[in-house]
Amino acid sequence: MTIKDLLVQGNALLKGHVDAPFLDARLLLEHILGISHTRLLLRVGNSVDQESVKRFHRALNRRLNGECTAYIIGYKEFWGLPFIITPDVLVPRPDTETLVETALNFIKQGWMESVLELCTGSGAVAVSLKREVPYLSVTAGDVSRKALAVARENAQHLQADVTFVYSDLFEHIEGRFDLIVANPPYIPTCVIETLAREVQNEPRLALDGGEDGLVLIRRIIASVIEHLYPRGVLLIEAAPEQMIAIREMMSRYRNIQTFCDLAGRERVIAGTGSDLGLALSILNSP
Ligand SMILES: C[S@@+](CC[C@H](N)C(=O)[O-])C[C@H]1O[C@@H](n2cnc3c(N)ncnc32)[C@H](O)[C@@H]1O
Repeated sequence: MTIKDLLVQGNALLKGHVDAPFLDARLLLEHILGISHTRLLLRVGNSVDQESVKRFHRALNRRLNGECTAYIIGYKEFWGLPFIITPDVLVPRPDTETLVETALNFIKQGWMESVLELCTGSGAVAVSLKREVPYLSVTAGDVSRKALAVARENAQHLQADVTFVYSDLFEHIEGRFDLIVANPPYIPTCVIETLAREVQNEPRLALDGGEDGLVLIRRIIASVIEHLYPRGVLLIEAAPEQMIAIREMMSRYRNIQTFCDLAGRERVIAGTGSDLGLALSILNSP
């Protein structure tokens, strides 16, 4: 069997079961053959050994059984970087690149030096920011020790100096930051069981945003002021349909703006800590 035969076969098998059958078949085959996309294309006529064919079929079956491609191949590209991914972390989504892009646009104003990422998961956002702007001091927290282990591995292999902290949101976070970013779990609990099987295979802790999906976001907005410098900015990723409710929660913030993902849907909301709130929290801090 040639590479082309296997791609055609994989595409046909996955069609109707996954969103991007050809892409998934291609990624699985590249992984099994240990070759890049370009090499795969250059060798489409080459025949493949029996052992690799068997491994490809096993991988296709795992995919058909609802495992994400990223969990099967062990990595996912995000912001042009290869992140190690295990079932202990959410697979970083292209939508979250809007969070990175928006953060970079704020950082490029030139005065920001410190960034905190809450709910870091695989570390994709924190590591991408550090790689883009090496002078930044980047701290990232998560309440999952297993996720933090993956994030640390990513920071190491991508040579990004990020400080990781085990923390329930701000619980163990010390100090103030110029920018705080978060992609917290924001799916309402009752919606989770209606999602595709592969999404349900991701860590519940990374998905479940409580009864209305906004439990974590509410907590972040309520305590962020104590961790932002004056002029500091909070950026939160959420679902487009949650933006109106989040705007209301941020009524004490200034300069509230939303930013759209590639599909043109509001995906990230930004606000600057209110001067009054900041002044009070600085006065009250020990
Ligand atoms: C939606 S995932 C985001 C992962 C990653 N930042 C990304 O964008 O791909 C949410 C993450 O929040 C973490 N998390 C859930 N509850 C948390 C809490 N109370 N405090 C800190 N992290 C929490 C989960 O472990 C998970 O890694």
